[in-house]
Amino acid sequence: MTEQAHWSAFWNQGHATTFGDFFRDGYQGSIGRWISEASAAWPQEGQLLDLGCGNCGLLTSILELGCSLSYVGVDPADVIVNERAQALLETRPNTIQLLSGQGAEKVALPDQSAQVAVSIFGFEYAQSATAVPELSRLLASGGTFHFLMHHSESIVTQMSKRALDEYDKAEIDAVIAALTVISDRAERVELSKLKDDLLAEQARTKINEFAAQYLSESDAKQTNVTMFEFMTTALRFFKLVRQPSAKRLEFIEGLRLEYLHYRARFEQMMSVAKNEAEIRGFCELCQTYGLTVEAPQAFHDERGIIAWKISGTK
Ligand SMILES: C[S@@+](CC[C@H](N)C(=O)[O-])C[C@H]1O[C@@H](n2cnc3c(N)ncnc32)[C@H](O)[C@@H]1O
Repeated sequence: MTEQAHWSAFWNQGHATTFGDFFRDGYQGSIGRWISEASAAWPQEGQLLDLGCGNCGLLTSILELGCSLSYVGVDPADVIVNERAQALLETRPNTIQLLSGQGAEKVALPDQSAQVAVSIFGFEYAQSATAVPELSRLLASGGTFHFLMHHSESIVTQMSKRALDEYDKAEIDAVIAALTVISDRAERVELSKLKDDLLAEQARTKINEFAAQYLSESDAKQTNVTMFEFMTTALRFFKLVRQPSAKRLEFIEGLRLEYLHYRARFEQMMSVAKNEAEIRGFCELCQTYGLTVEAPQAFHDERGIIAWKISGTK
């Protein structure tokens, strides 16, 4: 399975930005204000690159701001334009291009074709050694870049760590195996007799034990959110018991893959987050390729550090 598959699976679900409830308002809050401030200095004409664009959450923001630049979204995963941006585009003059399947390391655009490059938690997923010279190649002279990058001390990184700590692979595998047994037994015995089937009942009891463990916590702070959500989804299987075997197995495989991708995405997020020495190294690399970079700053909102804020000029 490729690394892109983990993100493609996420974007295929139609999300507009990465962090769901965490950035419930999309990029309206502190990140929205950051985009708005950065955009004040952008030219009226030319091309804006969104590196690691996902489903184009940034496009929504720039359309709402009335920015007239052409938009090019770049992402190695299968991505689409989110619904809100699609609706806005009906009344806006902006041209857009989506370079799905391309990483920031190699973008199929001519030299100096972009006036602005933006990345919201995307560029750090690329190999800096090749993506930074590519950024320098793509930016026109005087062009600017504005990046928010994962910070090793951010609340986003803490949230990723919590999700990984909560994720119990052995238990997830046990629930998937138990669902598979029930599906198999439902094929072999009459549905009305499934309750009397020893193997099906053992599997159901196991699932009920996990459900009791994870769904009954009354203190929200103590809740294992990852396993709570996993069990809530897993229990939907019982609504499908009367469906044909293919439907049941499709559900089980979907559940297995969803949580495999979930873990891989959080592992990636943790691994690309930069500490102070690493972000300084990144800025030095940018200087090496003719990019002038402002000193990196930790970007805060009322909840704490969200990201590193990096901006510069070619
Ligand atoms: C945390 S998401 C951010 C997406 C989007 N910017 C947003 O804010 O919703 C990280 C994105 O980086 C993309 N990505 C992974 N490797 C990349 C690379 N080499 N170059 C550019 N983007 C990459 C992933 O596919 C994913 O869509």
